[in-house]
Amino acid sequence: MSDESNKKQMSRRTFLKGMGAGVVGTPLVISNLEAITPKQLQAEEDMDVKKQPISLKVNGKKVRVAVEPRASLAELLRNDLKLTGTKVVCNHGECGNCTVLLDGKAVYACHMLALDAAGRDVTTIEGLLSGEELHPVQKAFWEKDGLQCGFCTPGQIMAAHALLLKHPNPTREQILKEMSGNICRCAAYPKILESVMTAAEGSTS
Ligand code: FES
Ligand code: FES
Repeated sequence: MSDESNKKQMSRRTFLKGMGAGVVGTPLVISNLEAITPKQLQAEEDMDVKKQPISLKVNGKKVRVAVEPRASLAELLRNDLKLTGTKVVCNHGECGNCTVLLDGKAVYACHMLALDAAGRDVTTIEGLLSGEELHPVQKAFWEKDGLQCGFCTPGQIMAAHALLLKHPNPTREQILKEMSGNICRCAAYPKILESVMTAAEGSTS
């Protein structure tokens, strides 16, 4: 497509988008422009989204994958790599359910672009297992019943793992502070705290 043609397409899209949501679903007829259905408009927009190849390490393995610039790390993990242990709840960087480790530090996977994980080292809940063997933090949550429905548990465990990498022998206050970004709707907080303290005892014994 020539530059001139590109400009025309862009201005048509920009104009149509500016028409607002009220016209969605209705073919548009505008003077000097042909009729365009929302489906055609979407197809034109989709052409703009070009996937980009990135390489990163996930759970110790090198991965090369093509991602849309708008895709989050959580989408890359769950949709492309099928690592569905990372849960998405708020999708807004507020609940911590999607916590994974990025170069050893806890991050919200819903709140960063997959492109920004290029060249980095990502660990998900699946990466904590050693064959069939649970990681000590997973074991502690299991033994101390650090969960109720379990939906927030992968995020809690990843946050606890990051905390223990940073503070192998944490105080109660450090645990409360570092885990404060992980919400549990079942309010299983006392048991979660106990689980983290048990995991910490294991990590220092
Ligand atoms: S799903 Fe990512 S912070 Fe809530
Ligand atoms: S155990 Fe149910 S949300 Fe935390």
